[in-house]
Amino acid sequence: MAHITILNGPNLNLLGKRKPEVYGSDTLADIETSCRSLGSELGFDIRFEQSNHEGQLVDWIQQAREQSQAIIINPAAYTHTSIALYDALEAFDGPIIEVHLSNIHAREEWRHKSYVSPQASAIIAGCGAQGYLLALQRLSTLLS
Ligand code: DQA
Repeated sequence: MAHITILNGPNLNLLGKRKPEVYGSDTLADIETSCRSLGSELGFDIRFEQSNHEGQLVDWIQQAREQSQAIIINPAAYTHTSIALYDALEAFDGPIIEVHLSNIHAREEWRHKSYVSPQASAIIAGCGAQGYLLALQRLSTLLS
């Protein structure tokens, strides 16, 4: 059974309450439930985490090197700032899928830059919570 790490960055713990017109009304717990449900259909064992702290995300990416065949990451605001996430992801061997609920390219110009994208096999933005499920489906293809 493939193991997938799904990581969520700062403020995503507020999903459902924070700007629902941009990020949708699903909570992070709703997203986790739907990822676990599709994940079990696809035969994935899932680790699902959220942190507001950059170093914690780096630690989980490093743990994924030992534990997981792939990473799905919504780095939230660290997308646009974090060389630490870039370096940590560079040291991971399997596929990495970057997910954003909103279309970052249709928003403020400073959101157009992603330090994570150069390390990603694929980028999904603007599909809301469904983006996580699309990422799992893509991994099902990539890991089969
Ligand atoms: C986000 C987009 C980021 O620009 C923002 O800082 C977030 C969420 C998204 O999922 O659309 O916190 O990653």
